Amino acid sequence: MKSLIDKLYKTTALTADEYKELLDNRNPELSEYLFEKAREVRIENYGYDVYIRGLIEFTNYCKNDCYYCGIRRSNKNAERYRLTKDQILECCSMGYDLGFRTFVLQGGEDGYFTDEKIVDIVSSIKRKYPDCAVTLSIGERSYESYKAFFDAGADRYLLRHETANAEHYGKLHPKSMSLENRKQCLYYLKDIGYQVGCGFMVGSPFQTTDCLVEDLLFINELNPHMVGIGPYIPHHDTPFAGEKAGTLELTLFLLGIIRLMLPQVLLPATTALGTIHPKGRELGILAGANVVMPNLSPKSVRNKYLLYDNKICTGDEAAECLRCLQKRIESIGYRISASRGDHKSIALKQ
Ligand code: 5AD
Ligand code: FES
Repeated sequence: MKSLIDKLYKTTALTADEYKELLDNRNPELSEYLFEKAREVRIENYGYDVYIRGLIEFTNYCKNDCYYCGIRRSNKNAERYRLTKDQILECCSMGYDLGFRTFVLQGGEDGYFTDEKIVDIVSSIKRKYPDCAVTLSIGERSYESYKAFFDAGADRYLLRHETANAEHYGKLHPKSMSLENRKQCLYYLKDIGYQVGCGFMVGSPFQTTDCLVEDLLFINELNPHMVGIGPYIPHHDTPFAGEKAGTLELTLFLLGIIRLMLPQVLLPATTALGTIHPKGRELGILAGANVVMPNLSPKSVRNKYLLYDNKICTGDEAAECLRCLQKRIESIGYRISASRGDHKSIALKQ
């Protein structure tokens, strides 16, 4: 199996059968070998820097009804909120003072936030903080909407594909949603010129090794700038409440593989990873991740943006989280970078 990791390290790609073989034959020694290679590639490209993104969860209204998600439309127990433009700008101001140079606006698919409103918010942030990157994570929209946000100054867009297997996609989402449309959106975003992020949940219900192989092949084909993966974690008010969570072990293994596939990718150690294990994010960085995304949302709404149970950091101020993360990152020999943290291909152009 080590020879497969050596091949991936050298060529950045394996065949479907090889990915499957690698995933099926995981063991602690193989994982450690993979992580060493992943760290080597990560350090070659980004040194010991960890990029930080200030996450602003600005609305938990959502018109979708994804079976795994705690803020799905049908969850009548979710207490809904929207931040005003002023509140969002206040989060940016606090974040800027703390040293953040990327703001991620994330929300459910909320019809209240029309294109005009998003354009206004993005352009206001960019006017006030021209040295910062703005990332949007607001789901599926039309080409024209994505173009308008980009023209208003949005730099990056996160839209996890969730699973690259259409049948599996159908088991995680209602009929109104399709993998085809999801992929179309990702290609639009790339065409327009965004730094694009896709990604998926590890261990989501009905996921098989074959699904994961398809995820890896799709990621290879899309060639995104960012890949967001984290364990699936059940939420008590969803149809998947009784399902098992994804594991730390498999998530770390996939992080390692993705680092070798896309040596320059921006790869977060996610909050979900930090939720299933107290050292999840540190271990994620040691498996090849190079981004963390602490929360800048006002404390009053923190405990309302709950996609899954037991989410960490819902009671902490942004400043506390940053201090905590700084300590954690330094404890493993890495450091937080004060830069925008662009993908290497883009950073070189600027
Ligand atoms: N567990 C883990 N991740 C989840 N997401 C949504 N619900 C859950 C859950 N229960 C992820 C999805 C989505 C991202 C914002 O959060 O992958 O794209
Ligand atoms: Fe939020 Fe540790 S990162 S408290």
